[in-house]
Amino acid sequence: MKKLVVNVDESKDKNLLGKRVVAPLDIVVNSPTTVVDQDGRLLVVIDSFDDKDLPYVRSFLPHINYQNNLRLANFQGGFEQLRTSDMSFGYRPYKPLFGMPSGALDFNKKYANWFNRLNDMTERVTEIYETISSDCFNRHKTMAQDIRPEWLLKGGVFSQGIINNSVQHSYHYDRGNFKNTMSAMIVLKHKSTGGWLNLPALGVTLATEDSCIVFFDGQKILHGVTPIVNRYTSSKRFSIVWYTLAKMVNSLSADDEINKIRKTDLKKHRKNS
Ligand SMILES: [Fe+2]
Repeated sequence: MKKLVVNVDESKDKNLLGKRVVAPLDIVVNSPTTVVDQDGRLLVVIDSFDDKDLPYVRSFLPHINYQNNLRLANFQGGFEQLRTSDMSFGYRPYKPLFGMPSGALDFNKKYANWFNRLNDMTERVTEIYETISSDCFNRHKTMAQDIRPEWLLKGGVFSQGIINNSVQHSYHYDRGNFKNTMSAMIVLKHKSTGGWLNLPALGVTLATEDSCIVFFDGQKILHGVTPIVNRYTSSKRFSIVWYTLAKMVNSLSADDEINKIRKTDLKKHRKNS
């Protein structure tokens, strides 16, 4: 694996936040590489990924009923609508505003077989995480031990994953995850070009081609996706991203989560009557 030492310069990040990635003129990393800063601190790892479950996962990804949304992205001084199409799997924290207890996401039940395969793949991804940075992995694993095991995916580190269906995310920071940990991302492509990951502060664009895996701290490092070119109706660019939501440490057992909602509902009812 190659090693790339970069100068981290975050001075342009603020200006880029929310903007669409156009054509970054940065170093293109297109082979297995670890990116480190001048002090040798690990920033990013990109490698090729293979797994026994990969062909099956690849076959079902186009058949998921993704949730489509529109978001505003800053583009050439104005705003444009950015289409998102994604679906999450794994476990979600308590949502007091919606009166929703912590629990399994719909994906797990709706696509139970597919979820099981993704969960098996999560275990493999977690094993790779341990090999690329035992320091970061052990810190992450220790934090995850504060989450009840039933709210973690296989491997015992990540609580949730998201599948993005050809989404060209503008520059952003991830939010809500454990601090100082890495997320994992796998990219799967079919007749699709572009869709690389630009990290402006590092002066690096990761050439995320089919079957690659990337680890980095998306809460610390601003990142965005370069234009995705899908020339055919069958063209697809999927990314699967794994992370751990910090709020999961507050999640109780499934029964206690339901009881918590019942008590809250009862309080509201008494207040209103
Ligand atoms: Fe992200």
